[in-house]
Amino acid sequence: MTESQVKEVLSTVTYPGFTKDIVTFGFVKEIEIDGGRVAVTVEITSSAPEVKAALEDEIRTKLEMAGAKEVIPMIVQPKKPRETSSHGKNIAPQVKNFVMVSSGKGGVGKSTTSVNLAIALAMQGKKVGILDADIYGPNIPRMMGIEDVHPDIVGNKVKPISAYGVEVMSMGVLMEEGQSLIWRGAMIMKAIEQFLRDILWSDLDVLVIDMPPGTGDAQLTLAQSVPVTAGVTVTTPQKVSLDDSRRSLDMFKKLNIPIAGVVENMSGFICPNCGVESDIFGRGTALAVAQEYGSKLLAQIPIEPAVREGGDEGKPITYHYPESETAKRFIKAAEELWETIEKINEEGGVSNESIQPTTPPGVSACSTGSAPQGGSCSH
Ligand SMILES: Nc1ncnc2c1ncn2[C@@H]1O[C@H](COP(=O)(O)OP(=O)(O)O)[C@@H](O)[C@H]1O
Ligand SMILES: [Mg+2]
Repeated sequence: MTESQVKEVLSTVTYPGFTKDIVTFGFVKEIEIDGGRVAVTVEITSSAPEVKAALEDEIRTKLEMAGAKEVIPMIVQPKKPRETSSHGKNIAPQVKNFVMVSSGKGGVGKSTTSVNLAIALAMQGKKVGILDADIYGPNIPRMMGIEDVHPDIVGNKVKPISAYGVEVMSMGVLMEEGQSLIWRGAMIMKAIEQFLRDILWSDLDVLVIDMPPGTGDAQLTLAQSVPVTAGVTVTTPQKVSLDDSRRSLDMFKKLNIPIAGVVENMSGFICPNCGVESDIFGRGTALAVAQEYGSKLLAQIPIEPAVREGGDEGKPITYHYPESETAKRFIKAAEELWETIEKINEEGGVSNESIQPTTPPGVSACSTGSAPQGGSCSH
């Protein structure tokens, strides 16, 4: 059979309940002919199984009567545009993807994670920005080594500062050192909106946003101002911290933000002398929480003195020591984060399958907590 013959037959197939045929409706998307084998893709908006079955039957019968040996009708539904947190609103349209990094409480490594993920994404060739939206504790400038850099003002807009291949903006560089502000709801909302609207971000692949801890006005304003592509929650392994992180994950769900994963920070300790990893706050507890939310563990980041030093000195570990175990894990997490972002954009959602973490290299029995400390590792 030829394509036009197939089309002719299909134009006698009416859409169940209507008088018009599926060709006239424009539902026939693809016809593939391979000898006597005919595959037809029909896209319909109805998800009713009886409509699908009726169409399959009629297409098969009519094409077989017209001479096809084998007929493969494929009745599919069109992809729905993703339901975004902001219902399609985007006050920073030059940014393709927004990643919200949140935590239930402060001090768990939210800024450390934001900085290192952003740098890793930039090292992987993406155009990346980092927005320090933690108005209560804006410490991204210190961690990115730009504390003393003043941003350029162009007209009534502010140019982000460039560091380690990443565009950065923070309330910290706009305020005098030590200056503190008391933030109230309306001010927070205005500040977040200005960060997005009045900062001259380039055309970014992704803007990583370091949120204030908790689930308040800042989170809501962000979610309503831009279509947040994915949320990342940072937690430490202690049970109390996990309880807080559940609140973050609940918030993502409520705000329609797909969850890219959980970062378990301060997960084990890598001894700087012997390189062996041991538990301090515990390890591996975040996986169950991630799975509860149909998500995955993006990374387990050990306690490593170089992480803190890198933060204090403005020399992020992922950039300065890419060979370190911690940097490798951030780099891997960034790859997985990007894959998830692409999946969210392609499929209009995230899959619920959870991915088991593989045991990171360099983890010995000493780190499992079952083996006695000391012995071969002398930390
Ligand atoms: N994995 C780690 N190993 C060692 N120090 C860390 C680690 N993660 C964070 N820190 C340090 O702990 C402190 C708090 O981390 P930070 O990222 O500022 O947390 P948050 O932004 O959640 O308040 C910082 O001094 C940081 O350098
Ligand atoms: Mg912080």
